[in-house]
Amino acid sequence: MNKKSIRNICCIGAGYVGGPSMAVIALNCPELIVNVVDINLQKIEAWNSDDLNKLPVFEPGLDTVVEKCRDKNLFFSTEVQKNISEADIIFISVNTPTKTIGLGKGYASDLKWIESSARQIAKYARNHTVVVEKSTLPVRTAETIKDILESSEEISDFGMQKEPKSFSIISNPEFLAEGSAINDLQSPDRVLIGGEDEESIEKVCSIYKNWVDPSKIITTNLWSSELSKLVANAFLAQRISSVNSISSLCELTGANIKEVTLAIGKDKRIGDQFLKPGPGFGGSCFKKDILNLVYLCQYYGLHEVADYWEQIVKINSWQQERISSIVIQNLFGTLSNKKLAILGFSFKANTNDTRESPSISISKNLIKEGARLNFYDPKVNEDKILKEFQEYEYEQKLNVFETVLDAAKGTDAIIILTEWEEFHHLNWELIFQVMRKPAWVFDSRSYLNIIQLKNIGFKVWALGQS
Ligand code: NAD
Ligand code: UDX
Repeated sequence: MNKKSIRNICCIGAGYVGGPSMAVIALNCPELIVNVVDINLQKIEAWNSDDLNKLPVFEPGLDTVVEKCRDKNLFFSTEVQKNISEADIIFISVNTPTKTIGLGKGYASDLKWIESSARQIAKYARNHTVVVEKSTLPVRTAETIKDILESSEEISDFGMQKEPKSFSIISNPEFLAEGSAINDLQSPDRVLIGGEDEESIEKVCSIYKNWVDPSKIITTNLWSSELSKLVANAFLAQRISSVNSISSLCELTGANIKEVTLAIGKDKRIGDQFLKPGPGFGGSCFKKDILNLVYLCQYYGLHEVADYWEQIVKINSWQQERISSIVIQNLFGTLSNKKLAILGFSFKANTNDTRESPSISISKNLIKEGARLNFYDPKVNEDKILKEFQEYEYEQKLNVFETVLDAAKGTDAIIILTEWEEFHHLNWELIFQVMRKPAWVFDSRSYLNIIQLKNIGFKVWALGQS
């Protein structure tokens, strides 16, 4: 088999990972042709939009990279078959959400999109193809992908003459965080490449070596690489649940969570990153990856280990329930006929992604108590917000506004759920004037200037402070 050098890359999945990660490869490897394919036509049209504000993913700096590379060596299309057949390397960046039905429901990853991608590769790839798992997957998924690919000879449909083909599987999980994706991709802490054959590992390494220092490229076996991704996310989420659990103790004891995290973060062994208290972690990754880890531990009979990791998700849900109850209690125990402003709907700042956003679960708790909600988010549009509440009669109860001031008019409370920078620079005096009194601010990120707000006349609750 001719194991030729790489010229043509295909990425299956044009989402939050596929789009930005391939754009950065195209930027740093001008000699490579990078084709990003997706079955979602609307998404592909958005990636090809002349108006760069309409790209389906909002990430600082992404528009500039796309503008530089698109239609030069970076292409977005729905031509899955053609681009698979022309590719030397295929990245699989499809979604792997938690299963909602069947075996492992609520814990295991749903691998149906991985399976369909592997079947398409098996059918349409030609000659030798390196298949790279970029999606986050349960450890040992490469075995399943291999089984599907190895059956390709039987299902090849290139006419009468079956072409000889071969595959190598590489695990190359993505560690980017949303909101800082371009920076994370341009200057990664590390690039992880797991595989079985040296030649394919080297091929994938050679792409990254165009801009990443070789000392940051780690190579391992397949299973270590697959598992490391789940473990990295579990450790990161564990820090957030730890700090959030302590935020509740601070509120009862007079300690201040910001002072506590400053003090512990100075210890080099602990470190000062990822210690911000908040309304619980959101995003498409942490919860699903921990639940996946829990499922794997249960599958291998490690029940104590499974329980240990599951507690991180339980504390996260508890934090969201806790914040909802605090709002209700402070507003005299009832929200009926009260109007509240929800500031921030994305799961963190600098992204338009709302998957598993704490704003969704907290808003639902408040709606159940009878609240009417006014939403404002700088990057999430009205349709996307209202879609989350389809089961409620939201016509009368929910409204989305273009400015914070409009959202605040006539409300009893403002609840800060996403730490957008612009919330630091609001005209709080004016906001106070348009609200019903007593006017409350609930700062679930504990990042506003409380003294300033209190001086204006607000009643303030800030997470982890008393
Ligand atoms: P996403 O939902 O934004 O994108 C996935 C895309 O794959 C969708 O557009 C979907 O239409 C497409 N797709 C599914 N099946 C397909 C097929 N057979 N052919 C063509 N296209 C297909 O998901 P995402 O956030 O980009 O995540 C992708 C993977 O990367 C997941 O496994 C996730 O856990 C992992 N990951 C995500 C992040 C993140 O920050 N979002 C970070 C690291 C890793
Ligand atoms: C995460 C991982 O960081 C990334 O490496 C992986 O590839 C994908 O999952 P992401 O979910 O995009 O990235 O964002 P992240 O910055 O990790 O934030 C996740 C959630 O934790 C957000 O809701 C954020 O607000 C919250 N968070 C983060 C905190 O509450 N406190 C912190 O100190 C950090």
